Amino acid sequence: MSFLMDAWYMAAWHHEVVDVPFARRICGLPMVFFRSRDGTVAALEDRCCHRAAPLRFGTVVDQGLQCGYHGLVFDCTGRCVHVPGQERVPPKAMVRAYPLVEKDGILWVWPGDPARADSAKILDYPFHDDTKNWPHKTQHYHVKANYMLLVENLMDLTHLAYVHKSTIGGNPKAHVEAKMTVTPKDQGLHFIRWLPGSMPPPSYQKAAGLHGPIDRWMEFEYTAPGVVVQWTGGLPVGRNAMENRNQSGGFSLRILHCLTPETESTSFYFWSAANGYRQDDPTATTDLFKEIDTAFSEDKGIVEAQQEIMQETGTSDLVNIASDSARMQMRRALQRMLDAQSSAP
Ligand code: FES
Ligand SMILES: [Fe+2]
Repeated sequence: MSFLMDAWYMAAWHHEVVDVPFARRICGLPMVFFRSRDGTVAALEDRCCHRAAPLRFGTVVDQGLQCGYHGLVFDCTGRCVHVPGQERVPPKAMVRAYPLVEKDGILWVWPGDPARADSAKILDYPFHDDTKNWPHKTQHYHVKANYMLLVENLMDLTHLAYVHKSTIGGNPKAHVEAKMTVTPKDQGLHFIRWLPGSMPPPSYQKAAGLHGPIDRWMEFEYTAPGVVVQWTGGLPVGRNAMENRNQSGGFSLRILHCLTPETESTSFYFWSAANGYRQDDPTATTDLFKEIDTAFSEDKGIVEAQQEIMQETGTSDLVNIASDSARMQMRRALQRMLDAQSSAP
């Protein structure tokens, strides 16, 4: 499998990129990220054009990033602007720069052809800036599995009842019988699952004090290649949740999942969890975060184990079942984009 290069991937949380360079490999490409003195963020190839020293050993200076080996300085566009001990900068002295956009607390990088990078296509996630209604916390994991296994994990939620028994799970029967509507989109798909009159899982009980039956929903929107926006919650039965989910007295959370390939067999799982039920209570936000962190570590464990065995035994004989419908549409959406990429001029 080759990666979709002409796409925006989450590269980092904004607070990770400071005035000290740090390296991260995205879609197999070694990149170095830094924030220049004027606050602009940049992503360059992590390889100096002089003697190929990785630029992550460099220092941020007034004009940009200074290589830590012999002191060449590169600006945010990758152009060399200073060579110690000489006036003239060789015209070929430059390193590759990747389009990078900071938005809603996220750094988005475009590993492909810069001419096709359209920042208007980047996800809008206003909830990160709305801390009054959606206080949130962020996290990221390094995962020893192909990023697609993480995307697939989010496309088939029947796993909740088995993998997340102690947290966000719930009754296996309620999950399998959930009413699921999948709608294909240009660049992905949308689905919503309803578990009407189901018993709240442990996390819901703890967080919102829900103990009787609830109408529970899980709404997911996937945008290829690696972004999944989630809105999940529940309201006590009898409150017409299906007509109006924006009601107090229930449980409601928003999760942003960004799955970014590092290599064919490793990836980054960035996520944020926003509390939409006890917004004035910082403990509720922290407790929610811990609960989700536990659950997603369970996902990490299972996909890493999958990766290991798939690498050993292959995948050609695997069987699809009814709960794979969203997963299969997800694959089709991604394939359409890969095909478009390979037929692009
Ligand atoms: S390797 Fe970067 S300045 Fe020499
Ligand atoms: Fe999960």
